[in-house]
Amino acid sequence: MPSAQVRSVTFVPADASGVARIVIDRPDDPVNAMDLRVVEDFAAAIVAARAAAPRGLIVASGKDGRFVAGADLSLLSGGSRIEIERAIRAFQQVLNDLAALPFTTVAAINGAAIGGGLELALACDRRIIADAPSARVGLTETRLGLVPGAGGTQRLPRLIGLVRALDVILNARTLAPRRALRAGIVDEVVHPAVLLKAAADHALRDRKQKPRGGATAVERATTWLPPVRAFALRQARSRVLAETKGRYPAPLAAIDAIATGLAKGMAAGLDAEARALGELAVGGTGKNLVALALLTLHQRKAVLQGLGRARPIAAVGVVGLGFMGSGIAQAAAAGGLRVRARDRDAAAVAKGLSTIRQLTAEAAKKGVFERREAARIVGRITGGPDLAGFSGADLVIEAVFEELATKQRVVEELEQVLRPDAVIASNTSALPIAEIARRARAPERVVGMHFFSPVHRMPLIEVVRSARADPDAIATAVAAAHALGKTAIVVGDGAGFYTTRVLSVMIGEAFAMLAEGADIEAIDRAMVEFGWPVGPLQEVDEVGLEVAAHAGETVAKARGITPPTIVNALVAEGFKGKAKGGGFYRYSGGRRTPNPRVRELVGVDSRPVVEDIAERLTLALVNEAARCLDERVLRSPAEGDLGAVLGFGFPPFLGGPFRYADALGDGVVASLERLAAAHGDRFAPANALRSRRAFFRV
Ligand code: NAI
Repeated sequence: MPSAQVRSVTFVPADASGVARIVIDRPDDPVNAMDLRVVEDFAAAIVAARAAAPRGLIVASGKDGRFVAGADLSLLSGGSRIEIERAIRAFQQVLNDLAALPFTTVAAINGAAIGGGLELALACDRRIIADAPSARVGLTETRLGLVPGAGGTQRLPRLIGLVRALDVILNARTLAPRRALRAGIVDEVVHPAVLLKAAADHALRDRKQKPRGGATAVERATTWLPPVRAFALRQARSRVLAETKGRYPAPLAAIDAIATGLAKGMAAGLDAEARALGELAVGGTGKNLVALALLTLHQRKAVLQGLGRARPIAAVGVVGLGFMGSGIAQAAAAGGLRVRARDRDAAAVAKGLSTIRQLTAEAAKKGVFERREAARIVGRITGGPDLAGFSGADLVIEAVFEELATKQRVVEELEQVLRPDAVIASNTSALPIAEIARRARAPERVVGMHFFSPVHRMPLIEVVRSARADPDAIATAVAAAHALGKTAIVVGDGAGFYTTRVLSVMIGEAFAMLAEGADIEAIDRAMVEFGWPVGPLQEVDEVGLEVAAHAGETVAKARGITPPTIVNALVAEGFKGKAKGGGFYRYSGGRRTPNPRVRELVGVDSRPVVEDIAERLTLALVNEAARCLDERVLRSPAEGDLGAVLGFGFPPFLGGPFRYADALGDGVVASLERLAAAHGDRFAPANALRSRRAFFRV
């Protein structure tokens, strides 16, 4: 049968009780992303439903545990503003038709209903959700630099009130079933096995009624009374401006579309939404953020290229249950893996386990998962002061102190008890994996799995492949990263791999500027204004000066750049970081002031800076990233951009160092040459930049 005949959406006529169904099941797409075809088929299904005039209608997914993940992002990349607007208006029309059906419609949400998926459910009269781990609702478009375009900015405030809707849309929240129920987005949470039955009951029993704009009188007043509404909108606007410093246009556009719709009616609101989406999707920020989201999606498969076969992982060992180890153990258990942990003594183990319980309780409180799931996660982790229980581990991750000899010893100890096919992963931040594996009997099974802190929030794992690594061991580490819900990049071995290396080079350049007389605050301020989450010197304080010094030294030695002498001098005087006596700043009473000792230790008076600080530091990083490509530490610009944005907060609206280099075009080489003339050869442009082919096509 030609594939054109396989429909993405089918109308199933009413059963004996009188309830019909529309079933969404896009062929070849496991997450049911909405493309033009889905929209067209949906339109046809609605025509059929209207003609059949059942007593009620259920909108359901044909996929197990997946509802509709949202719009297919590839629709947005490369399209013109007009094309994108046209597509979204067609989707809006279909949802208007759905909402206008004369009988009760119920969305049966069995998995993620995100973005367009939730907008579809919002166009139904009722929403019933399965109590399943994958079930979520949310409008996350602003995270992509876009606005919800298919009625989300209109129907959500009408359903749950302006204030709650602003919170969901502006913070791109996704809500687990019970949270969604409390927020008023769904009407009932049921066991997955009875989802369709419950939806049918609602379809037969509930009457069509207009949403009222919130559950309480105050919520409704904020939604509908112009002066109160104007106040709430103004507050939201100033909060967004404070948070984004005006660099991200999408949340503001969402507020405008909501405001228009509530003041002038749904049609005007939908029009504002469609126009905003078209404009944002072709603007720089939207394009870069969508490109990053697409890279992240593709990476799940792309990362496997050139690797071996992953072995199944069910049981994981963690050695060193300190700050990182407890986060890693918790993430592994949250990913459904059994975890056996080890630290030096019973007290250290108890401390680690208590951190894990705390992390899990906090996540449950925030609605990341339900309370019962939290208990199951904690129940998957056991620990002790020796390697008992490690013989069944498929993968062991060590997170002991960052000392080569300690790590080598841990590897040797593990080899005594592990199965020969078990993988040993080191969560070192900078030490070469080949060194850590040097004394191993089977160095090919030792890999790097570089996590970022805090583990539960940071979405990246850098998997480090040494020259001798077994391709199957690397594939297994990648599969483990996926089981933990993280994005993995695979990088070459060497001091600092990719992320620590480029970051250390940038921070080293900040030290060089300090030595030339630049101000601590001037450096950090310039970087934050440029779009970095924190400035480099504040970053060192947050990470801890000893950790930063160690990473910096390892990279400096390998790359011949400014060593972190100043950091060592501060450590020697007891300045070890934000929570440890201060560092580049002193912290007291919630205030941060530059540490005067820094200037004295540097031995140079402060002088006004005449050059662009953010340009110099960011280009140092971009150039080092390009060198990593030259040296094949990086396999692709895509992995370089993902690593930089997801790993250490390279400004996402620029898309990553490589996309940023593309945007600068020839300017990047000219600027680096100018910096090289002023400051030395370390700025000599990398070959990947000199050859000036664009890293990305769109
Ligand atoms: P930490 O000091 O909090 O934890 C280390 C833990 O290992 C302690 O609980 C210690 O008792 C235990 N330990 C030490 N030797 C051991 C041994 N022989 N057997 C069993 N347990 C042992 O340190 P943190 O910050 O968790 O760092 C651990 C590793 O993670 C280091 O290699 C570090 O470079 C790396 N890392 C740290 C990041 C950070 O932001 N702190 C980020 C990424 C990686």
